[in-house]
Amino acid sequence: MHKLYIHPLPVRLWHWINAIGFVLLIVTGVQIRYVGLIDIMSFRTAVVWHNWIGFAMIANFFVWLLFYLFSDKIKVYHPELSPMTSFRATMRQMQFYGYGIFRGDPNPHQVSAYRKFNPMQSMMYQIIMVLLVPIQFYTGILLWDVGRFSGMVEMLGGVRVVDTIHVLLFIFFSGFLIVHIYLGSLGHTPAAHFEAMITGYEEVEGEPEKDAAA
Ligand code: HEM
Repeated sequence: MHKLYIHPLPVRLWHWINAIGFVLLIVTGVQIRYVGLIDIMSFRTAVVWHNWIGFAMIANFFVWLLFYLFSDKIKVYHPELSPMTSFRATMRQMQFYGYGIFRGDPNPHQVSAYRKFNPMQSMMYQIIMVLLVPIQFYTGILLWDVGRFSGMVEMLGGVRVVDTIHVLLFIFFSGFLIVHIYLGSLGHTPAAHFEAMITGYEEVEGEPEKDAAA
């Protein structure tokens, strides 16, 4: 076992601010959606907090985006261009999480400095960060001031359509959080991946030289 620096500081800062922000957005969003049914805070407070936290998360998103755009670490997000290789690797990883892990099989993915994501993470994080999160922010901005953005809202099919997209993504993110935290607990110890996202260092098997060359 040796330590490998895989989560640079800007990524860690972005990640934990984002995690807290998303949880607060979910709580305030639930209050806004189910006003009258649940009573965590007043409707007005929920709307004001939801808007402010939403804007803070949009600004925070640029920490993640700019860091990767201007760093060679963007390699961790390079997609596997061969669909067959990608499919096989994803199936192997899914088989490990669904079956192999319970038999004590080794993880088919070996972490290295530029390959910190397994095929499932790589695909999911790309879809989330370049598609779903931006769509959630965009629909959020439209709903924040429907009057000001009425042209765009109408072009997309009206408030109901924009709101439905926003709520469906909210449901997705709530589910994602549960799966994400579960998978995050499947390191060589239950806390390993969480600690790595705090310190930046992940403990990996093998020789340091071998990983550096990989
Ligand atoms: C309490 C909430 C959360 C916890 C405990 C958590 C935990 C973690 C951990 C341990 C990692 C590093 C290991 C891994 O990749 O699995 C990670 C990475 C990541 N998480 Fe989370 N997470 C949370 C919320 C979120 C949310 C809300 C999002 C997005 C909407 C998110 C998106 C990501 C992404 C994109 C990465 C990879 C970051 C990178 O290295 O570029 N996480 N998370």
